[in-house]
Amino acid sequence: MNTLTKLLFGVGALLIASALALAWNSGPAHSAQDVTPTPGGPSPATQMTVIIQDQTFTPHTIIVATGATITWENRDVAAHTVHSDAGWFESGSLEPGDTFVWQPDQPGTFTYNCTIHPGMEGVIIVLPGGAVAPLPFDGQPVEQVYRDSCSGCHGPNREGATGVALIPGRLAENDEFYFNVIQGGVPGTVMPAWGALGLSDEEIWSLVGYIRSEPDAEEIEWEMGDIAASHTELVPESDLPDAPIHDGNMDNLLLVTEREARSIAVFDGDSHTLLGHIDASYRAHGYAFDPTSDRWAYNVGRDGWLFKIDLYSLQGVAKVRVGLDSRGLAISDDGQYVIVGNYIPATAVILDAQTLQPLQVIHTDTETAEGEIIHSRVAITSDVAPSLVGPYFLIGLKEGGEVWRIDYSQPDFPVEKAADVGGILHDGFLSPDNTRFYIASQRNDWMAVIDVESMAVVERIETGSTPHPGSGATWEANGTQYGATVHAGEGKITVWDLSDNAIVAEIPTSGPGLFIRAHPDNPYVWADTMFAEQPNRIYVFDKETFEVVHVIEEGIQPLHPELTLDGEYVYVSDWQGNVVRVYDALTFEKVAEIGDVITPTGIFHVERRLETLGH
Ligand code: HEC
Repeated sequence: MNTLTKLLFGVGALLIASALALAWNSGPAHSAQDVTPTPGGPSPATQMTVIIQDQTFTPHTIIVATGATITWENRDVAAHTVHSDAGWFESGSLEPGDTFVWQPDQPGTFTYNCTIHPGMEGVIIVLPGGAVAPLPFDGQPVEQVYRDSCSGCHGPNREGATGVALIPGRLAENDEFYFNVIQGGVPGTVMPAWGALGLSDEEIWSLVGYIRSEPDAEEIEWEMGDIAASHTELVPESDLPDAPIHDGNMDNLLLVTEREARSIAVFDGDSHTLLGHIDASYRAHGYAFDPTSDRWAYNVGRDGWLFKIDLYSLQGVAKVRVGLDSRGLAISDDGQYVIVGNYIPATAVILDAQTLQPLQVIHTDTETAEGEIIHSRVAITSDVAPSLVGPYFLIGLKEGGEVWRIDYSQPDFPVEKAADVGGILHDGFLSPDNTRFYIASQRNDWMAVIDVESMAVVERIETGSTPHPGSGATWEANGTQYGATVHAGEGKITVWDLSDNAIVAEIPTSGPGLFIRAHPDNPYVWADTMFAEQPNRIYVFDKETFEVVHVIEEGIQPLHPELTLDGEYVYVSDWQGNVVRVYDALTFEKVAEIGDVITPTGIFHVERRLETLGH
């Protein structure tokens, strides 16, 4: 046993002892979080409201007494259901603004979900009324239990330490999975089996609910010092080969996120072969490619680790943790700076692209008219070409409803802001001349158009329910430039004229989709319908006539079409099917089907470093 394992074993044993003490400890008290205190003694709540927002039930786990009134309130932009698999209750479709009430008349643990959005889950723990049953943890708040029993390994703010981070953005499995892990532990690791240590099912469900709740963004700090200290060299750059050690065309590589495998698959777009897999972090999310060299790529995972990747040897060379939950990144045209947008904490981080040293942490806080401070998640990061408009990064503030332009040529990275862009900003893309930034407002169902030079909102294009362009599509046809988005809320592609932002086509599809792509040398535009009832169709429409020329219908859940260098082939991931398919992008015939990939999702062509595919 080396010192580290000895130390960990020690910590584990200590914590186990304290958990046992906690489970044995009895005496009346009540939970501050879930229980409405009543005069005269502790008892579970008799009234409880669960808010449905951002595709989440909040609180995730509630503890109530029999006979309590539980009200669900849909404050989201989309319809949801409240559905008990065991048949205890069923709300039917709840439109935004609707409520649903259930009154449990017997004790038990009732799990439920939304039938429209897999992964949206909640738990109701019903205790007998009249305060006869002991409350979970004898009434200690679950936060306290976490601090005493879990924080030593999972971090005081659930940011991860010896154990993994326990925050919603990182927890990909369903509730039952986490229930089982907490109850049974992870054999072969230091993660204890809390069931055997005396925690009841109700207590374990409370912990599942706790790790499903968003950590208090106020409490989480991840500043320059934390980022710098996390820097880890994986391979010394002096050990790297001088030239590619694979046969792939360096200008025609496609990187595919293997969502659940902590890995990135790399394909050669010439030969349609899988060149290898690169170890990455959890749910590799955003990609950027060094515009000054074909060798370097960057990837950030949803657990906040930014990787610098060597595409010659197909491996990560260094990593640094920029946040606890991150999404997008962009690189400056001179290859000097990388910016990453975080969900947790509410920051954007600028780093030296070569050394991965942090240079600036930008706090993405905004203030409402009432003076309330909003810590805003960063929805999108983008880079503007200095040769076209200026040396800028753009970031979209999800809750803050602002787009910020950061001048990376100045030492203090000054920020210019566009306000009132829309509610719940999501992804966006630039016009080919980089003068306009189109960003989706998912609360307002529009694509806002921002003039990048003046940072004024010049238009709001009302496209339809929950626009979701992904990396977006722009193209030229009929002497006109067009842009397009799909929608996460309805089966439709909206096309507009970039010169006046007027909608020129609304193309119905069989259901909601997430990604749309085009290529200058291919006559079609490609869009998925991965949220449709039958989610296996890729729509192909003509750039000039907007007519659907073909629908590729294959596999289980194909998504994220991406074209090869010459625009002659299109790659499509089949997330549930565990294959990547390649089609001739003119005849739509399948030319390759490549397995040996696990849960493939986003596909990113290295040409994005030059942004000729529309960014
Ligand atoms: C002694 C250290 C330690 C303690 C204490 C501990 N954990 Fe863990 N936990 C781990 C480790 C290590 C893992 C990762 C195991 C693996 O490699 O899969 C883990 C994994 C987990 C996972 C699974 C995460 C995933 O994504 O698969 C959950 C959930 C979890 N722990 C919850 C808890 C809770 C709740 C507590 C407190 C009641 C707790 N842990 C206490 C070390 C610990």
